[in-house]
Amino acid sequence: MATKFTLLCLLLTFLTIATSTPTNFIKSSCSTTSYPTLCVESLSSYASTIQQDPHQLVQTALSLTLNKTQSTKSFVTKCKSFKNLKPREYAALHDCVEEITDSVDRLSRSLKELKLCKVSGQDFNWHISNVETWVSSALTDESTCSDGFGGKALDGRMKTSIRSRMVNVAQVTSNALSLINQYATNH
Ligand SMILES: *[C@@H]1O[C@H](CO)[C@@H](O)[C@H](O)[C@H]1NC(C)=O
Repeated sequence: MATKFTLLCLLLTFLTIATSTPTNFIKSSCSTTSYPTLCVESLSSYASTIQQDPHQLVQTALSLTLNKTQSTKSFVTKCKSFKNLKPREYAALHDCVEEITDSVDRLSRSLKELKLCKVSGQDFNWHISNVETWVSSALTDESTCSDGFGGKALDGRMKTSIRSRMVNVAQVTSNALSLINQYATNH
């Protein structure tokens, strides 16, 4: 019984390691991004989907970015509904919800556009350059939100938690953009 259990544990450990080991393809693609460790960490669990496919890599990175931005949007929206917000906090949150909503829209449009890059007969360069433009604007929207919380007047737990989430989203977005640029160049 005990050995069976141990064996099962070993097997599960092995499976977990096997499925989350970053491939060399993911590692080398991530090495030119601004946050390579985060890039490898976030993409490793999709290694079996990505394989060695540059399109799949970019699509996964973008989808991940969209999902992260969406959940951050929900968080910021929830914060905006808190009672007892200072007027300046409310104003910063209000602007941030607008910016992050734009960011989500652009990322979601980019993901659809990216899929067209793979369709034969479609103009790859045109579609990928749209993706580059929109993801880059999404990144700007995210920084604008963070900047809105820059003033000392807003110091406190709200500012800290919003800013740390926005930093994380911006890093994931920046990585996706750099993978997209790489994909465009190598195509
Ligand atoms: C993002 O969310 C969608 C919808 O919930 C899901 O289908 C997709 O797999 C997620 N993307 C990643 C990379 O996890």
